[in-house]
Amino acid sequence: MPSTVKGVIARRRGAEVELVDIVVPDPGPGEAVVRVEACGVCHTDLHYREGGINDEFPFLLGHEAAGTVEAVGEGVTEVEPGDFVILNWRAVCGQCRACAKGEPWYCFNTANATQKMTLTDGTELSPALGIGAFIEKTLVAAGQCTKVDREASATAAGLLGCGIMAGFGAAVNTGGVRRGDSVAVIGCGGVGDAAIAGAALAGATTIIAVDVDDRKLEIATGFGATHTVNSSGRDPVVAIQELTDGFGADLVVDAVGRPETYKQAFYARDLAGTVVLVGVPTPEMTVELPLLDVFGRGGSLKSSWYGDCLPSRDFPMLIDLYRQGRFDLDAFVTETIGIDDVEGAFSKMERGEVLRSVVVL
Ligand SMILES: NC(=O)c1ccc[n+]([C@@H]2O[C@H](COP(=O)([O-])OP(=O)(O)OC[C@H]3O[C@@H](n4cnc5c(N)ncnc54)[C@H](O)[C@@H]3O)[C@@H](O)[C@H]2O)c1
Ligand SMILES: [Zn+2]
Ligand SMILES: [Zn+2]
Repeated sequence: MPSTVKGVIARRRGAEVELVDIVVPDPGPGEAVVRVEACGVCHTDLHYREGGINDEFPFLLGHEAAGTVEAVGEGVTEVEPGDFVILNWRAVCGQCRACAKGEPWYCFNTANATQKMTLTDGTELSPALGIGAFIEKTLVAAGQCTKVDREASATAAGLLGCGIMAGFGAAVNTGGVRRGDSVAVIGCGGVGDAAIAGAALAGATTIIAVDVDDRKLEIATGFGATHTVNSSGRDPVVAIQELTDGFGADLVVDAVGRPETYKQAFYARDLAGTVVLVGVPTPEMTVELPLLDVFGRGGSLKSSWYGDCLPSRDFPMLIDLYRQGRFDLDAFVTETIGIDDVEGAFSKMERGEVLRSVVVL
């Protein structure tokens, strides 16, 4: 029997989110229904609500979640009812050309549920990043469930489902931070701070946090930033060069994703250094750079989809580091909120008051 449960949708571009009844089908072949226990509010949910990702409204928001598998469909072997899982939005196929090349984190054919969750009038919903987890239970592809140790609280574990994994992986997987590297991170929200924590764990010795908000810079220091730069008052390129013997950083992570921050990242890295774009731009944004500078400065300009993570490899590893006290997931949680308070969490995010608000169900 399909269930009808409460969930948070964005009905139209820019409109406030609504808590409505949603019909969740029983899992079909290859699918699982997961009882959501916690779901963080990521900036990407706000991008969806504003129409910055695509126009496929209405969206079922929320995608940074952990919970318990309630039921699985035919042929599912990866997980079983009762498993504690983190939901991932890149369930790799194992067969596409990226997977065949041994680079499954780039998988070009990731899986989502085949059936649709709907409003009670039958309107099909687009789940954010193929998840949709501001809801009591959600329908996903079984491969989107990554089993982890239940010892971690759902509030902490769920964060690995998106922003924290993306930031950590942007530095460690995509950026390939090595011991002794200098790293600058532009934008110190949940994603940027996770990049800072990842860089610190990987042995970077100079870690420069850049933000326009002093409150965020103070928090970034707690995650391992060795220096901070408020870029509303000064040119971050000059500041980063000064902090790296005049050269620029080996790696600059843009965790904002705007033309101006991307240009800052481009010029704030050392010759042959790396830029990693993990912040998500909106469709109208463009960036213009002298082609001679692109050539002359060398190095690599990369994007980081989900931190180039492999959920089955990286989620359990990060939970282990968390349990050992080496990666403080709890420090990302500014507040826990009810499912009826997502709009309030967006406002706090826009005012810079939170790192992560986490909906607890
Ligand atoms: N690539 C991925 O897989 C992935 C995954 C999750 C999130 N994201 C994206 O990462 C970005 C950050 O997400 P978040 O949840 O940390 O957001 P957030 O709103 O919590 O943090 C953004 C931070 O950037 C700062 N900022 C804003 N403008 C700035 C500027 N011009 N210069 C310096 N700092 C500035 C803000 O003060 C804030 O601290 C978003 O674009 C989000 O969509 C990407
Ligand atoms: Zn694939
Ligand atoms: Zn996200």
